Amino acid sequence: MRLNKYIAQAGICSRRKADELTKEGKVKINGAVMKEPGYDVQDGDVVMVGGVTLEAPEQHVYYALNKPCGYITTTSDEKDRPTVISLLTDVTARVYPVGRLDGDTSGLLLLTNDGDLTYHVSHPSKKVYKTYLALVAGYLKKDELWALRNGVDIGEKRPTAPARVTILKEKSDTTLLEIQICEGRNRQVRRMCKAVGHTVLELQRTAIGEIKLGRLLEGNYRKLTPREIEYLKNC
Ligand code: URA
Repeated sequence: MRLNKYIAQAGICSRRKADELTKEGKVKINGAVMKEPGYDVQDGDVVMVGGVTLEAPEQHVYYALNKPCGYITTTSDEKDRPTVISLLTDVTARVYPVGRLDGDTSGLLLLTNDGDLTYHVSHPSKKVYKTYLALVAGYLKKDELWALRNGVDIGEKRPTAPARVTILKEKSDTTLLEIQICEGRNRQVRRMCKAVGHTVLELQRTAIGEIKLGRLLEGNYRKLTPREIEYLKNC
């Protein structure tokens, strides 16, 4: 890892400031002054800044969780409700959710301690489609389906962006929809369905871009594969 990134990840300053400190001769590697900001820090290198030894940055870890309903997507809760973090029983790294799912929504949630990746994936300019299965009350008329696909007014400045919506099944008085959206507005799927007159009875996220929930059981989690991590970094 580049020296300036290593120093910045220790949380003491920005990468630019790290470059300045390095050029000023305030950084030592294994006891010797290092003035090259582009130095590639090796495993086992001891990095000192201004006489203080930095702790090696945490390794990045990436998980996919099948969030059950009833768990909230925060790291701690003042009302003492169970959090998604409490499900990661053998994860010692301090990870954070990438985006969020409502308490009453189940399904795929990504968690990581890689802040750059979280920022990258969550940025509105990234058109990563999230896929949901929504069981809604009633049957959808053609114009309602059209509206969902083309954008609906959910009481904000702008209507929702075009969505991919498919009717999967019509049962007794309910319809199972697959909805793919590339925005992440608060309770968006529920509000979109409500806007066309249908209450969401159950909601599950089944994919984020190419990352699939698959057969992961509710409450269980798995590590993302190197390929999935690469995909998220480049999406
Ligand atoms: N849309 C919702 O309504 N809820 C979620 O949790 C995610 C998307």
